[in-house]
Amino acid sequence: MNKRISLTMQAHTVIQQHLRGGGIAVDATTGNGHDTLFLAEQVGVTGKVFGFDIQQQAIESTQTRLATANITNTQLFHSSHDKLEQCIPTEFHGKINAIMFNLGYLPGSDKSIITQTKSSLLAVQQSLSLLDNSGIITIAAYPGHSGGDKETDAIKQWSEQLEKTKYTVNTAFSSDKETAPRLYIIQKITPTTS
Ligand SMILES: C[S@@+](CC[C@H](N)C(=O)[O-])C[C@H]1O[C@@H](n2cnc3c(N)ncnc32)[C@H](O)[C@@H]1O
Repeated sequence: MNKRISLTMQAHTVIQQHLRGGGIAVDATTGNGHDTLFLAEQVGVTGKVFGFDIQQQAIESTQTRLATANITNTQLFHSSHDKLEQCIPTEFHGKINAIMFNLGYLPGSDKSIITQTKSSLLAVQQSLSLLDNSGIITIAAYPGHSGGDKETDAIKQWSEQLEKTKYTVNTAFSSDKETAPRLYIIQKITPTTS
């Protein structure tokens, strides 16, 4: 993938190719709501987006962004993404088309509140069972901050142990530096019907 394009744009591009009007998506780290808004626009009024963040400030910032854009097809949870399965109504399990993770800290906020390896791993694992047959997960990971290195390594190892007959895994790097942010793109391989 082209390194000059930001990882967020790369994540949006792959998801845009995948999501259709009426689709269902999850923003597992809503932050300031940029990705939630993007997902809500892709699925349109007939679709649905679920958003998660542990910070009230992030939920409010996302709510404001969505309200300004007249978006009504979203449901936000002030909750950790390791509760994805618990919070998302069961009728949507196995039907979700795309799940975005943008790990790390909320830009312009307290940099000590960051995603944690344990809950991030639980969340990405739960995501697999929430996806539909050709669902996609994007994970932007940042090894350059304290804790982010361990978390990125854990995500890398988790992605590498996924069954190759069931998932494709692609990685994009923002630069050649060891500490450069990276994007993991995991997609379910649609089972063939015999
Ligand atoms: C890089 S920011 C996300 C940026 C966001 N997607 C946007 O478009 O603005 C990471 C966010 O993850 C949130 N976060 C940290 N731990 C979390 C957890 N366990 N579950 C859900 N969100 C979490 C932080 O509060 C922060 O807002």
